[in-house]
Amino acid sequence: MPPHAPAYAVLVSGRGSNLGALLAAHEQIGAMPRIVVSSRADAPALDIAREAGVRVAVIDGPAGASREARDALLSALLRDADVEWVILAGWMRILSDGFVRAWYPRLINIHPSLLPSFPGLHPHRQALARGVFFSGCTVHRVEPGDVDGGEILAQAVVPVMPDDTEAALAARILAAEHRLYPETVARLLRTENPSAS
Ligand code: GRF
Repeated sequence: MPPHAPAYAVLVSGRGSNLGALLAAHEQIGAMPRIVVSSRADAPALDIAREAGVRVAVIDGPAGASREARDALLSALLRDADVEWVILAGWMRILSDGFVRAWYPRLINIHPSLLPSFPGLHPHRQALARGVFFSGCTVHRVEPGDVDGGEILAQAVVPVMPDDTEAALAARILAAEHRLYPETVARLLRTENPSAS
């Protein structure tokens, strides 16, 4: 590893296709993730990480614990892994303000709409219901109190077809995500690498 290789974690909850795209781009990014953390023990994303030889962990409890307690465990795990950046890739748990403040401005997310349009759940459904002609995906910093808010870092646009279903639009946007996320993460980690300063 080069002396100032970016130290990052990827947080997942499900399928892991964006994780796969990030792993495939590890040379462009400058390093593999130090750790992949899942909020679910059965997330297929964990197998993708294991197959790539990346350390994995699951933070889904302790049962009945508060969001703050769980996020304190998560932060401790990430600090222990010497992580400087936290890359959300399909992470489905709302993060506490304490966690977001602790990792800001190096906490990054991708959302499958052109923010600030259609934040939150079911963005593809929202886009189709509104009748937009274009949608896409947005890479942004995560800021306290605003799940899909925060500084917009990059966007990619895709057309919405007249006969689109939610699944068809989601697949078109996902292909754009797989290009946009690795290139944006690579650019950020190169230009804002705290251990290089
Ligand atoms: C992606 O559409 C991403 O934009 C959203 O969650 C989905 C995760 O998919 N935040 P995957 O697990 O990366 O395949």
